[in-house]
Amino acid sequence: MELVLTTHFGNDQYRTIGTYQELGGYVALKKALGMTSDAIIDEVKKASLRGRGGAGFPAGIKWGFLPKNDRPRVLVINADEGEPGTFKDRLIMSRGPHLLIEGIAIAAFALNAHMSYIYIRGEFVKEANILNEAIDEAYAKGFLGKNILGSGFDLDLTVHRGAGAYVCGEETSLINSLEGKRGWPRLKPPFPAVVGAFGLPTIVNNVETLADVPWIITNGGEKFASLGSEKNGGTRLIGVSGWVEKPGVYELPCGTNLKDIIYKHCGGIKNGKALKAVIPGGSSTPVLRPEEIDVAYDIESMAKIGSASGSGGVIVIPEGTCMVRILGVLMNFYAHESCGQCTPCREGTGWFKTIVSRIENGKGKPGDIDLLLDLCDNMMGRTVCPLSEAAGMPVKSFLTKFRDEFEQHIRDQKCPYGNKFQSAHA
Ligand SMILES: Cc1cc2nc3c(=O)[nH]c(=O)nc-3n(C[C@H](O)[C@H](O)[C@H](O)COP(=O)(O)O)c2cc1C
Ligand code: SF4
Repeated sequence: MELVLTTHFGNDQYRTIGTYQELGGYVALKKALGMTSDAIIDEVKKASLRGRGGAGFPAGIKWGFLPKNDRPRVLVINADEGEPGTFKDRLIMSRGPHLLIEGIAIAAFALNAHMSYIYIRGEFVKEANILNEAIDEAYAKGFLGKNILGSGFDLDLTVHRGAGAYVCGEETSLINSLEGKRGWPRLKPPFPAVVGAFGLPTIVNNVETLADVPWIITNGGEKFASLGSEKNGGTRLIGVSGWVEKPGVYELPCGTNLKDIIYKHCGGIKNGKALKAVIPGGSSTPVLRPEEIDVAYDIESMAKIGSASGSGGVIVIPEGTCMVRILGVLMNFYAHESCGQCTPCREGTGWFKTIVSRIENGKGKPGDIDLLLDLCDNMMGRTVCPLSEAAGMPVKSFLTKFRDEFEQHIRDQKCPYGNKFQSAHA
């Protein structure tokens, strides 16, 4: 199986520029500097490279949204990686920082952007240090800075650390935070491609999306597309956590069967237990029952079954786990992370937390399930950013697919698993 990103991740020296170059690094940048912008963007379009940050928007099409004017452009890299269950960008930044830097340089050249910022999650101190060292090396070798490799193209790249807010992974909130403002989302339109960072046209892309770009330039968009499934080119880094024998980050072709990811690649459910549920693409994505996981792990196939591959974080839940408690833990998170700007999200996420925790603690009321579903309807599609949907989707899917467990908690006025859910932020 052909790997795009992780071939050399086992080599500790791969993060140094010397080893990276010995193994073929920065050759794609040299090639790209001899191409036109349009030719690079065409190659990325042919690759069917879908954004790896969660929404899966085609990267080449997004790059085409920049207005055709002389205003300076900005390229922002989303390294916030805040979605619970997701831990793959961290691997790229710590094991292959130059892959990302090379991808950024190629993308910036194609977009004619001379300013670029990596917005990295505040907790990733080690990764920020590795990136800064790698950026210094790239400047010293002429891959960043003025007149890159004699091409006449200039690019400055800066690492900006966030302060640990999930909502700052949303692109407009990220831009506000980058500008030194309060990190809450902006109303769209205008979209960042038109008015983004510092009022300038801006493209925001995920770390993995850009790290794929050198391979695409070296090997061609069509080759990349052929590695994956229809409309989903290439491979993906899939982070599998929870109750499996071999949790970790796996690089697999887009469209790999989800059941195979869990049973073949990750060795199946730990200690031979039965599978109870899978959260397939980070905590915001609708939960699946075991009979639903025989599905291609790509954007269209997952959408067909009413869920999503999201940010590539698969959470595996075994038999014997209380689904009410799991939902309670998730709702605690969303209530804490709502920025509070929109009433439906600020109030709704707080009520999600309160109601789910009272059901878990044996104090649920007969109308609570309907109340939760009603809250979902009043929150989804009515707010500035999709965080309220990110909270509503798990609620709706847990209630639909595990309703009997919620009913049992309310009927018996206790958790059948003997759990006590204690909210860390109550
Ligand atoms: C609440 C929220 C949190 C998000 N967090 C992240 C994140 O941590 N990393 C990320 O790449 N995208 C995140 N996104 C998606 C970004 O808004 C944006 O779509 C993405 O960075 C675009 O990059 P891509 O097209 O390469 O995927 C988040 C979105 C929302 C609504
Ligand atoms: S939906 Fe929630 S997180 Fe998003 S802007 Fe509104 S209040 Fe803030």
